[in-house]
Amino acid sequence: MADPKDQSTQSAPAEAGASNAAPSNPALWGGRFTEATDAFVQAFTASVTFDQRLASYDIQGSLAHAKMLAAQSIITDEDYQAIVGGLSQISAEIERGEFQWSIALEDVHMNIESRLTQLIGAAGKKLHTGRSRNDQVATDIRLFLRDEIDAIASQLLETIAVLGQLADREHATIMPGFTHLQTAQPVTFGHHMLAWAEMLKRDYGRLIDSRARCNSMPLGSAALAGTPYPLDRQMTMSELGFETMSANSLDAVSDRDFIIEFCSFASVLMMHMSRFSEELILWTSAQFGFINLPDKFCTGSSIMPQKKNPDVPELLRGKTGRVYGHLMSVLTLMKSQPLAYNKDNQEDKEPLFDTVDTVRNSLTAFRDMMAAVTVNPPAMRQAVARGFATATDLADYLVGKGLPFRDAHEVVGKAVGWCVEHGGDLSDLPLEQLQAFHPSITADVSEVLTLEGSVNARSLPGGTAPVRVAEAAKATLAWVEERRVGARS
Ligand code: ARG
Repeated sequence: MADPKDQSTQSAPAEAGASNAAPSNPALWGGRFTEATDAFVQAFTASVTFDQRLASYDIQGSLAHAKMLAAQSIITDEDYQAIVGGLSQISAEIERGEFQWSIALEDVHMNIESRLTQLIGAAGKKLHTGRSRNDQVATDIRLFLRDEIDAIASQLLETIAVLGQLADREHATIMPGFTHLQTAQPVTFGHHMLAWAEMLKRDYGRLIDSRARCNSMPLGSAALAGTPYPLDRQMTMSELGFETMSANSLDAVSDRDFIIEFCSFASVLMMHMSRFSEELILWTSAQFGFINLPDKFCTGSSIMPQKKNPDVPELLRGKTGRVYGHLMSVLTLMKSQPLAYNKDNQEDKEPLFDTVDTVRNSLTAFRDMMAAVTVNPPAMRQAVARGFATATDLADYLVGKGLPFRDAHEVVGKAVGWCVEHGGDLSDLPLEQLQAFHPSITADVSEVLTLEGSVNARSLPGGTAPVRVAEAAKATLAWVEERRVGARS
């Protein structure tokens, strides 16, 4: 068969590190085989080009397992010391980029174990006692993802903080609020920023919820049925900082729900960022001009000299697609799989890794961009003045004068129609003109028709009034701080 690399469409960033060893069966499982694996099949089934990313977690898991094996007198202290020494050398080799990854050794687990035996001899062969690659890989991914969840959680907090600061600064800046992308009512820019912050706060909650289910230890499940060795699962669990241990060995080696949950969280987060991005793209256009993105977040056009393109939000919007795709990959990967472990599961890693990388980069880009955004209050005021944004305020005013809301709505509708026909805004109409639409309108209406009057009136909790927004921005920053402190302690 042909070289599988010719047919592969997958990006394998780590491929350069993998040597193209001649086909042979790894000593680790070759015992029952009479012929070597086909070269194509060997490369087709190997995962080392991408799962070497799990190496440090694989070593961490092995160290805990070996320590427990020694504590339970399943291996000697001498063997344990040799394993610790060998694994630390391997870890250094990997860090220096000197480790020889081999496709013939299939995956990260067997590459490391083979090297260990090469370095320390027989003791290396004892490390796998009471363990299978099935519970090993499940452990590695959980350790990896737990770290990534923590890093992403802290990135989310810092992003929410940036939005909170921006909201605090712009708590009284008035802009048009939209429904159907038509001017609806005046809102404050700070209020709009805090709407985004609320979405990210819920994303944070979903992420933290998923962490608990990720943080459960599979070791001790072995291949599928558990193991007859007297392992101390409690000890391995606390060595690795897991909160719980799996309750069923068949489930533990085959469950990938925790990856699906993470990818679901990531999809919702990216969906939110794509919404924010879409608004940023609109707002930076000449037609809106509400905000300005610093040049360092934009690019130019090779043909149109005037162009300053909002590439960063456009890419954030675009990258949402791959994250949704990864969620679908992992869901489909798990669909209909019989218990327990199946090789299908090896396909969980690339979607997970790319989801993690995309989310982390997207959050960095979004946070840095929002920290540098400047706003253009006059453009927002002009826009809000064009769309009869205070029409509801006039209707509410008439309700205050005793009209039923539906009648008030009708009166104001007529007034707006008049303005559309003759030009101008409700606030431009002289009092007599307004009174022609309804006699109960008096001089105090002018306050109601101002933008400030409109936003100030909406001062219920959760409303857009500057006083409420200033409070809500401070509450958001306090919410972030509480969690920062929680993460430190
Ligand atoms: N590379 C494999 C994976 O990622 C490790 C587990 C393999 N187990 C097995 N019995 N073939 O899923």
